[in-house]
Order: sequence, then C-alpha cells, then structure tokens
Amino acid sequence: MKKEELTIRNYVKDSESKRVFEEVFDSTAIESVHELATKGFIDGIEHVVSTGKEAHVFRGIDKAGNNVAVKIYKIEASDFNTMSKYIEGDIRFKNVRKNKRDLVYAWTRKEFRNLSLMNRIGVRVPVPIAFKNNVLAMEFLGENGKKYPLLKEKPPEDSAKFHKEIVAFMAKTLFKGEIIHADLSEYNILNTGDGFVVIDVGQAVLTSHPMAKEFFERDVRNIASFLNKIGEKTGFEELYEEIKQRKGKV
Ligand SMILES: Nc1ncnc2c1ncn2[C@@H]1O[C@H](COP(=O)(O)OP(=O)(O)OP(=O)(O)O)[C@@H](O)[C@H]1O
Ligand SMILES: [Mg+2]
Repeated sequence: MKKEELTIRNYVKDSESKRVFEEVFDSTAIESVHELATKGFIDGIEHVVSTGKEAHVFRGIDKAGNNVAVKIYKIEASDFNTMSKYIEGDIRFKNVRKNKRDLVYAWTRKEFRNLSLMNRIGVRVPVPIAFKNNVLAMEFLGENGKKYPLLKEKPPEDSAKFHKEIVAFMAKTLFKGEIIHADLSEYNILNTGDGFVVIDVGQAVLTSHPMAKEFFERDVRNIASFLNKIGEKTGFEELYEEIKQRKGKV
C-alpha cells in the first residue's frame, strides 16, 4: 500500500476508535504507523484499549493475525517539564531536550529500551516489538482480544504470592537491571489470572540517574501501601529491607 493511499479507515474499524485515533494521528503518526505496517509489525488497528493523558493504547493485529498493543504518545498534550525530569540524567539519553516532539520521540525510544532491558533480565513486562517516532508496538497482554485487568481493578487472588513476586521483581530490576520503574503501583500492573505483568515503563530510569533513589523509594511506598490494602501487613522500611535482602541473590 502506498502512503498516499493510507487513510485512517485502513487502520481503524469502529467509530470510537476512529475518533480517538484522530486525536493522535497527525501526518507523522500516519507515516510512523505506515512504516511499522510496511515492515510487517502491524497490519491493522482494531480497537481502543485505553485513552490516557499522555498516550492512547490500541489493539492491533499483525500479518499473522496475532494481537499487538500499539501505544501512541500524544505530542501536544505531553508534559514537557515532567518528562524532562525522567530523561535528563539518564546517560542513555543525552541532548534530547529540544522541543516537545523530540522529547516525546526520545520517550518512546526510552520505553522501548526499558522494555528490552527488563525482558533481558527476565522480569515480566510486555515484549517490545518495534517503535517509530511516537508509536510503540509491543506484546498485547490479554485474552481473546480483551486486555487483562489492572491490579487496581482485580487485586491478586493470593496476596502472599503477589507479595513474594513483587519483591522479586523490584530486587531483580534494581540489582540485576540497575533500572527503577519509577511509577510502580496497582495502576501499572496487569493481573493475568495466574500472575502479573508490569507495564508503562517509559519513565523508568537507570540507577545512575540523580533522582533514582527518590523514585525507588516512592515505588516502595506505593507497593507497601497496596500490599496493606490486600491484607499483607508491611511498611516502607520493612519492604525496603526485604528487597535489600535479595541483593546478590537475583
Ligand atoms: N501491552 C499491553 N497490552 C494490553 N493492554 C495494555 C498494554 N499496555 C498498556 N495497556 C493498557 O493501556 C493502559 C495505559 O497504558 P500505560 O499505563 O502504558 O500508559 P500511560 O502512560 O499510563 O497512559 P496515561 O498515563 O496517559 O493514561 C493500561 O492501563 C492498560 O490497561
Ligand atoms: Mg499507566
């Protein structure tokens, strides 16, 4: 298919998706999706999965008919100053603070890199597929085309098991990946029914980032408070200690 022939209709099949799609679908986003399509990563965009402040997430399919999650970051609505905080100081991303568009493109690349790193060290996050500009394609997490619920919507059935697993996740990312999620909470973890998958890793920073400690402590605080909500008695100090205990064992 030639780019000139590309219309939103080629990619979107229902009117709600079309409306949401149009919000993020400027000419470069069209080119980006088109490029991912010509490379065979995406064959069509089927439904809106989530509409957010910073990004919209769609369910797409690839040529083989497999589901693919397609996250398209908004350019204009992005928060330049907040995003800068998580990019400046990350040694992988020097000199990107030019304008909103460059920053959002760098952010998308950063999410892809973070997903790759986390997959490599063996923690469960979506498998990254490809990215172009502000469009990121990754493994779709769901069943029969329906995404898994967030832990916020469906808390873990076995809270003790979750407690153990989230400690393992946090220790492994910290000590083996030397990376910190920096927005870890029940809003960014999906419940698969027999476990969980952490998502939304664009803001994750390396431990060499000057604010790494602050971000990590916030993650610990969020998770400690969620664990208490689901009946696992713990606190910031206690959970922090549990994670530290695993140093050298990840
Ligand atoms: N790989 C995926 N598979 C299935 N659903 C996903 C996937 N990635 C994200 N989602 C869904 O899309 C929602 C938003 O994704 P994510 O948390 O990555 O974006 P966000 O940056 O929080 O967006 P915003 O802050 O603008 O809402 C998630 O809560 C989840 O429901
Ligand atoms: Mg999120």
